[in-house]
Amino acid sequence: MRHKYTSTLVLAAFALMSWSCSHGQIPLPAPPPGASGDSVRGEYIVRNVAACGGCHAASERDPDGPLSGGREFHDWRIGTARASNLTPDNETGLGTWSEAEIVRALRNGQRRDGRLLAPVMPYEWLHEMSDDDAFAVARYLKSLPPVRNQVTQSPSIWFKLGKLFLGPKPAQSVTAPARAATAEYGGYLSQHVGLCAECHTPRGGIRSTPDKSRLFAGVSNPPKGFPANPSNLTPDPTGIAKWSEDDFLKTIHTGVDPSGNHLHPFMPWKENQRMTDDDLRAIDRFLRTVPPIHNDVPRKPAAPAP
Ligand code: HEC
Ligand code: HEC
Repeated sequence: MRHKYTSTLVLAAFALMSWSCSHGQIPLPAPPPGASGDSVRGEYIVRNVAACGGCHAASERDPDGPLSGGREFHDWRIGTARASNLTPDNETGLGTWSEAEIVRALRNGQRRDGRLLAPVMPYEWLHEMSDDDAFAVARYLKSLPPVRNQVTQSPSIWFKLGKLFLGPKPAQSVTAPARAATAEYGGYLSQHVGLCAECHTPRGGIRSTPDKSRLFAGVSNPPKGFPANPSNLTPDPTGIAKWSEDDFLKTIHTGVDPSGNHLHPFMPWKENQRMTDDDLRAIDRFLRTVPPIHNDVPRKPAAPAP
């Protein structure tokens, strides 16, 4: 009897799993008029603002190197996710993907074959990247020299089952605020293009979703694998309330904050320092507008020597 009961359960689990793999395809986004999305803008986003190489580069030590993927992320909920090969190799990368399919993966979290991407890939935030910017990113990726590197995924049973409750983000068309040193544009850049909010906002709950009521509040107990604690960037005395705009720019330009702390390279300041001053000012101006949150984040580990 008992045996029969177990096999029924197993069957039910399989039925659930196959059902969970059949989420419908999200409609492909339409390219912006004039098929703009120039690859120069795409390179600026990928290399300087979002620093996608922090996850997708072949070598952790060379985030500006080839984006041929392979880096591993472990989490019991997800299993082992490996950063994909973003170069246009036909067999192992994005060679046969259309720009629209790349944009859908980026913003909706859905692979070309319909499968949900592990949420390590930050589509939660990139969902609101504008059509122009997202197509520019796709165009840049397609312009890279192809690198052959087969990357496989090893999802856990929990992630396979979890897909019953998790789905891709809905389709939408997004227009970015005008590019200027304004808080509005800084909000767009720091949350939906750069991954500032992705790292600097605490997460909670079983699904480890970002707690957007504590936007930029810093993280004292970050996920495993974070070698440093993302700082509080809200305008609170435990955050950056006392910094001037020049302090903010200087910190990103030099990797040394106003207290003389050398920033851990996990904070991608070497990439972000190539952003324009106007873009950095926009982010600083936005950070002044988020609710101040008292959260004294301890530095971990002690700052490495320069
Ligand atoms: C925190 C790490 C991380 C960051 C940052 C990140 N990605 Fe990813 N990305 C991943 C992982 C892991 C996967 C594979 C997930 C899976 O297959 O389930 C992935 C998958 C993708 C895919 C799907 C490709 C495929 O073959 O399925 C694309 C496209 C992509 N990323 C583009 C980008 C771009 C562009 C950026 C920067 C704007 C970026 N990613 C930033 C971790 C990251
Ligand atoms: C991959 C995760 C990650 C991303 C992405 C990221 N940060 Fe950070 N950031 C950190 C960590 C971790 C620290 C703390 C470094 C340390 O303790 O040495 C930090 C520190 C900082 C500091 C210094 C704060 C202080 O009190 O010294 C500033 C300013 C900052 N980040 C701004 C940004 C901005 C702006 C962006 C987006 C353009 C960004 N960060 C993106 C992880 C990240």
